[in-house]
Amino acid sequence: MTSTTDHVTRIPRAILALIFLSIVSKCDPDLLTDYCVADTTPTSAAAAAATFHFNGLPCIDPATARADHFATSALSRPTDPSATLFGFNVTLTNPATSLPGANAQGLAMARVDLAPGGMVPLHSHPRASEVALVLSAGGGVLVGFADTSYRLYTQLLRAGEAFVFPQGMVHFMRNLDTAAPAVVLSGLNSQSPGAQLLPFSAFRTEPPLPEEVVKKTFKITGQDVQRIQRSLGGS
Ligand SMILES: *[C@@H]1O[C@H](CO)[C@@H](O)[C@H](O)[C@H]1NC(C)=O
Repeated sequence: MTSTTDHVTRIPRAILALIFLSIVSKCDPDLLTDYCVADTTPTSAAAAAATFHFNGLPCIDPATARADHFATSALSRPTDPSATLFGFNVTLTNPATSLPGANAQGLAMARVDLAPGGMVPLHSHPRASEVALVLSAGGGVLVGFADTSYRLYTQLLRAGEAFVFPQGMVHFMRNLDTAAPAVVLSGLNSQSPGAQLLPFSAFRTEPPLPEEVVKKTFKITGQDVQRIQRSLGGS
């Protein structure tokens, strides 16, 4: 190959690589200011919502920002997962209520309380990658995700250990200790990660999916569908 054709093929490849990188690294939009502390006063939020729509929340005058706008104790409080369907309870930071300084910063944090033997069932976050750090766990937390080739990655995490769930991948967390609760702290690279639980997407949509669709999706009978719907709290 001559150096001329080398140049010709190299340039489009570099451009393609740039385009590809800009697609895969896409996260929340960048700010044009240092920060945009959310204005959580009900009147101004309502007034803004009534007149126009935008990403995130309206900001306060930057001159009135305080250190406590950037702090939260929302993740310090344990929640009770014992009465939940799967044995987990999530507290997500919220710029409107618990952490106004996080508005428009492209991140969120979540505290996950897992009951003994509890788990966060298969789910995905369409708008965020996640890094999960186990704060406390007696018997460890089993985590895992499947990629788009259906290759499964699992890992048993002890307290202090962390795991990354790539953006959009279907994943789970399970507390292997059947006697003690576990606590996991997650960081997500979106203010609005979104969460879609697979069992609910298939069996608990509103209105329900046509039964024929669920039967054919899983190669199961109508009785199977109804049994699973009931065990997921449906009628
Ligand atoms: C999650 O925990 C909070 C605080 O303990 C509790 O008020 C709430 O009911 C729990 N959620 C569920 C679905 O049980």
